[in-house]
Amino acid sequence: MKVPSNLVRDIRKHYCEQLCSVYGNDESSAMILMLLEHYFNITRVKMALEPDLRLSESEMLTFHFAVKDLLKNKPIQYIIGETEFCDLKFKVNENVLIPRPETSELVMNIDKRQKTQDKRQLSIIDIGTGSGCIAISLAKNIPDSKVHALDISEKALEVAKENALNNNVDITFIHDDILSLRNKIDTKFDIIVSNPPYVRELEKAEMRDNVLNWEPHNALFVSDNDPLIFYRKILKFAKNNLNEEGEVWFEINEYLGKEMTDLCKEMGFSQVEIIKDFRGRERVVGVME
Ligand SMILES: C[S@@+](CC[C@H](N)C(=O)[O-])C[C@H]1O[C@@H](n2cnc3c(N)ncnc32)[C@H](O)[C@@H]1O
Repeated sequence: MKVPSNLVRDIRKHYCEQLCSVYGNDESSAMILMLLEHYFNITRVKMALEPDLRLSESEMLTFHFAVKDLLKNKPIQYIIGETEFCDLKFKVNENVLIPRPETSELVMNIDKRQKTQDKRQLSIIDIGTGSGCIAISLAKNIPDSKVHALDISEKALEVAKENALNNNVDITFIHDDILSLRNKIDTKFDIIVSNPPYVRELEKAEMRDNVLNWEPHNALFVSDNDPLIFYRKILKFAKNNLNEEGEVWFEINEYLGKEMTDLCKEMGFSQVEIIKDFRGRERVVGVME
């Protein structure tokens, strides 16, 4: 079916009806507004003030292709190429995981704890940095900190570097595999933080197509046999690279809270705190030396 006219109100209605079958009414309507604002700076207020607002032919085409991608379940953040995290803007593409709200809670918990302490010039490393969202937010929020960020994916690091530049922070990026480090990292850190891959293959059935078909699998999945592999390696790294009174912070699989606590204790970290997220799920672990 063709769009009845190039009036924004017609376009909105037409494409909302198309998207409804996949996303439902509210989400479709919100996404249409997001696209209009992102591409053409057309806000809800502008539409109310100018009911006869029209798109040009080329604008119609841009809009059409964006909706086509949405119908293929492509996440809107990849379509518009950006997202917000901890009140900062981040570029994203298919080489990086889209930052999640629960991860911003990890950052908030770290920030909150630092505010109660009187440490200066914190040295921080974010392992599996992806878009750089954790490293960059911490660098912004904890002044004078020296932040490192490591990832196995060169393409993810390219995105993270651009995000660091755009957000005006200085981060030392390391291209390496935390499961088998090539670089010798001698630095001692006050904070080691990671949101590593933690979704078990057996959980794939619960996942939505927009995640499964579009987000990088090396950022998400671990084997069913050893789902805590990254945490074990990072805790081992912490044994050599954590300063006295340092902290390790993780985002975890909500189903593996108990296993995580056991692992930390097994590896000699006795002070382990599990924090629930805004939905009451066990999502953040803080490990103190
Ligand atoms: C769950 S994503 C987290 C991305 C980002 N920190 C965030 O919270 O949105 C995990 C990240 O770990 C990286 N990664 C996967 N395997 C790795 C490895 N062996 N060594 C280092 N990084 C790895 C992936 O490239 C991905 O960027």
